[in-house]
Amino acid sequence: MSPSAAEFRRAWGKFPTGVSLITTRTQEGAPYGTTANAVSSVSLDPLIVHLSMAKTGMTCANIIRDGRFGINFLREEDAELALFFAKASGEDREKVPSDHTTFASGTIALNDALVTMDCKVVQQVRAGDHIVFIAEVNDLEVREGRPLVFYEGGFAGVAKD
Ligand SMILES: Cc1cc2nc3c(=O)[nH]c(=O)nc-3n(C[C@H](O)[C@H](O)[C@H](O)COP(=O)(O)O)c2cc1C
Repeated sequence: MSPSAAEFRRAWGKFPTGVSLITTRTQEGAPYGTTANAVSSVSLDPLIVHLSMAKTGMTCANIIRDGRFGINFLREEDAELALFFAKASGEDREKVPSDHTTFASGTIALNDALVTMDCKVVQQVRAGDHIVFIAEVNDLEVREGRPLVFYEGGFAGVAKD
């Protein structure tokens, strides 16, 4: 018998990840934020990342419409923000932290994120209940600090000197 969704979730809970705020725009052009950890680096030449988003969600619709999204790596102290942008209703999620700017493309970048990336979708793949967006990174910025970590269904920091 194949493993259950609960076993699958438990298994992946043993694999700590960073946490990012994905920034997109609504149909009306308002900033929109969603917490995501299913992002990773894919290629160096060209610079490519992947993001996997639930296909029924608003973020997915925003990305399909605009062909762009921002990745903002969150800091150790951003657990509350991460929870808000995973749970709040759609309208509230338009209140992405006011402390943000935009890349030349219009993609929203949090001023205080550890890393911000401006991503342009080059491919999208249906994968079960998600869509995997393969995207080129057109611009990025890196700042110093400690990342927020997601592990066994909760938030943690890293122990590193
Ligand atoms: C730590 C964390 C990581 C998450 N990662 C993802 C993810 O990678 N992809 C995804 O589709 N949802 C992810 N979620 C759930 C979304 O934040 C949540 O389902 C959200 O409501 C979807 O928003 P939308 O309907 O506005 O697109 C994550 C939630 C948490 C708390």
